[in-house]
Amino acid sequence: MNDTVSAKPISQRLFDQPVSRLHTNSLKWEKYAGKDILPMWVADMDFAVAEPIQAALVERIAHPVYGYTVPGDALKDAIIAHLKNEYDWAIQEDWLVFLPGVVTGLAVSCRAFCEDDDNILVNPPIYHHFYDSHEGKRQSLVKVPLHKSGGRWTYDLNSMRTALTPEVTMIMMCSPHNPTGTVFTADELSEVCDMCVNNNMMIISDEIHCDLVIDGESRHIPTAVASPQHADNIVTLMSASKTWNLAGLNTSFAIISNAQRREQFIAAAQSIVSPTPPLAHVATEAAYRAGGEWRAELLTYLKSNYDRIAVALDSIPGLHLEPLQATYLAWIDATELGLNDTQAYFEKHGVGLSSGEQFGQPHFLRLNFACPASTLDQGLDRIEKAVAALR
Ligand SMILES: Cc1ncc(COP(=O)(O)O)c(C=O)c1O
Repeated sequence: MNDTVSAKPISQRLFDQPVSRLHTNSLKWEKYAGKDILPMWVADMDFAVAEPIQAALVERIAHPVYGYTVPGDALKDAIIAHLKNEYDWAIQEDWLVFLPGVVTGLAVSCRAFCEDDDNILVNPPIYHHFYDSHEGKRQSLVKVPLHKSGGRWTYDLNSMRTALTPEVTMIMMCSPHNPTGTVFTADELSEVCDMCVNNNMMIISDEIHCDLVIDGESRHIPTAVASPQHADNIVTLMSASKTWNLAGLNTSFAIISNAQRREQFIAAAQSIVSPTPPLAHVATEAAYRAGGEWRAELLTYLKSNYDRIAVALDSIPGLHLEPLQATYLAWIDATELGLNDTQAYFEKHGVGLSSGEQFGQPHFLRLNFACPASTLDQGLDRIEKAVAALR
């Protein structure tokens, strides 16, 4: 190893390394198989998982029986310790309900806590499954867009207050927020909770991106920590899947402190939701127990990738990068380009971004920057050329 290589910070060496995902049936890469289009869309990372996670999986795989498996005490202890260490949140073991996905948790919540003709409050732009998790024939959505305040996207409390009627019985929150990257403050969260509980609502808080605060300043605060007095009305959904790149292993969990709400939730999941798989238990436990150092390096790398995007977009007219506190998903305003189908235009120029339309802002693009810097640079170069071709 020469001096230049050994002097590089560990993060560079870990994450600079491209890992080919071709022939793994990766959702992200298969979409453009055989085409010269760089996939920068669905939210998983092109990085190899942390070594302790892979080692734990290899060890478990060596035991040749993969039958139904309950989440063990060691897994639960690892989650409890993580929440205490990171968020000073002391949860109890029996508050945990394991699920194969956070989206499953959204859907189960709608079935558990909503009656026919109830309305559910969501705040666009928002992760697209917030629009389709409810039972379409039985409940409907009330959409109150986030607004820009102090340069970042946050809740528009006045408009929300106006929209609340007795039929609005639940809110689905996303914190940190996909796609805008906002980390909400304790005040912002507690104001929303106060308003919702005054209206007798349940609060479903999707916190899947909680461990991905990258700006070096903000702190994620669980909604139930910001509003402990409303904990009986709060269901928190979390997973190690985004931060430690385990989405294909299908394990997440709900945290529900109120016993009656928890029973309602479990009853709604009965016979519909499958048990979580043993490999996912092992990986999740290893992530929380031994993935701390890897995560710290990841956050540094992601921040540096975000800064690369900021520099590149600064000199691309018509594209505006939104400020981002968390996630690896850059939210880009492309309105000034005046394109009919912005996503398709960039795809034609070799970059596969997510269309803002699926989140509720058609002229925006979402760029997944959880990839080696060299791949990101290639994507940014293509974006620059695509915009130049418009002139
Ligand atoms: C806010 C949010 N919730 C849920 C999910 C998906 O969670 P899961 O794969 O556990 O269903 C994502 C994936 O990107 C997400 O961004």
